Amino acid sequence: MHELVTAIKAADGETSFKKVLIQVRKEEREKICQTFKTSFPGVYCSWFDPDKSYVLIGGLGGLGLELSDWMVRRGVRKLVLTSRSGISTGYQTKKVANLRQLGAEVVILSISVNTVENANILVQSATKLGPIGGFFNLGLVLVDKPFLEHTVESFTAPLDVKINTTRLLDQISREEPVRSSLDYFVLFSSMVANHGHTGQYNYGFGNSVAEHICERRRLDGIPGLVVQWGPVGDVGFVGKMGNNVIIIAKLPQRLHTVKSTFDYMLSQTTSCIVSSYVPQDHSTAMDSGEETLPQKISRVVGEILGVKDVTNVDGDKEFVELGLDSLMSVEIKQTLERQVNIVLDTKEIQLMTFNSLKSLVEA
Ligand SMILES: NC(=O)c1ccc[n+]([C@@H]2O[C@H](COP(=O)([O-])OP(=O)(O)OC[C@H]3O[C@@H](n4cnc5c(N)ncnc54)[C@H](OP(=O)(O)O)[C@@H]3O)[C@@H](O)[C@H]2O)c1
Repeated sequence: MHELVTAIKAADGETSFKKVLIQVRKEEREKICQTFKTSFPGVYCSWFDPDKSYVLIGGLGGLGLELSDWMVRRGVRKLVLTSRSGISTGYQTKKVANLRQLGAEVVILSISVNTVENANILVQSATKLGPIGGFFNLGLVLVDKPFLEHTVESFTAPLDVKINTTRLLDQISREEPVRSSLDYFVLFSSMVANHGHTGQYNYGFGNSVAEHICERRRLDGIPGLVVQWGPVGDVGFVGKMGNNVIIIAKLPQRLHTVKSTFDYMLSQTTSCIVSSYVPQDHSTAMDSGEETLPQKISRVVGEILGVKDVTNVDGDKEFVELGLDSLMSVEIKQTLERQVNIVLDTKEIQLMTFNSLKSLVEA
């Protein structure tokens, strides 16, 4: 452009004109230009209103702090992060300081939003910063146990933040002043809600009830989105175990893809419940180590069942007692057919034990 202006000035002998009109092509009296037939894929990019406040329940957790950082880089300037215990680690202090350095006003609320009073405190704190633009529930309490070992308290502990908090957020966001400013109502759920996982019945149940609250919202024409995550690596409660663990036959999803996937999911409006996970590749899992064939098959079947070490499991327990569900039966059925050419029906798989599997593969 600069070169063009210099060239025009030189041609005109002018030195001080203010406007340059550029004719890209001659005026068309009739449309002669061709429309492009090629379509170009759009790039999804969520953006948040800097004048609104955004609330992250469980915002001081592993994923909460990462989501906050991502949101601030996407425009958020007013954040409310809740947790029952508040900032308790140097990591949380540093991450919150980073958010402030990036220009965000951050309020930490050490409450559980499980009563109407606390829900009102939350709304007041957030609206002081600005009209509420989004609720993101990333709260998590896990108490994994075999069903018979649960007390009422241990069973219900994970339900508070999933069910009570989601229900209260739903109620307050159906009323003014929140109703008209709210753009996002997002629940971080888990594949465990539909897949099941040994010892996590209560967690799966809590997520499932909260998911239905979001579905109801969508039917009522107000914001509601559920993301069922498979295990997430790098941070959070699974991240602490490392990036090679296998849970519900899924590998931990790395953080950068969690963010890019979430970006896409937040922008789409077609589905209320979406999921994101990295499936385990059983064909490569079969190739490792010096194991015998029955050992390999037992290990892979164990991974599908969510059993870390099959040698620690009672070999005479039926798979159904170890938490087998219909999806797992299908996965085991396909693995046996593909890897050892054994064809069973799902009923036979339900009654199978690790000892009977071993004998079958040996035979
Ligand atoms: N990480 C994964 O692999 C994974 C997989 C699937 C789904 N998810 C979902 O993603 C979300 C975040 O997981 P994460 O790994 O980041 O968990 P995390 O690191 O354990 O963080 C969860 C946070 O929730 C807070 N919390 C618990 N009860 C609360 C309550 N009543 N009110 C406010 N805060 C509460 C906890 O803080 P206090 O103890 O101080 O309250 C904690 O900081 C969860 O909803 C989880 O279900 C995670």
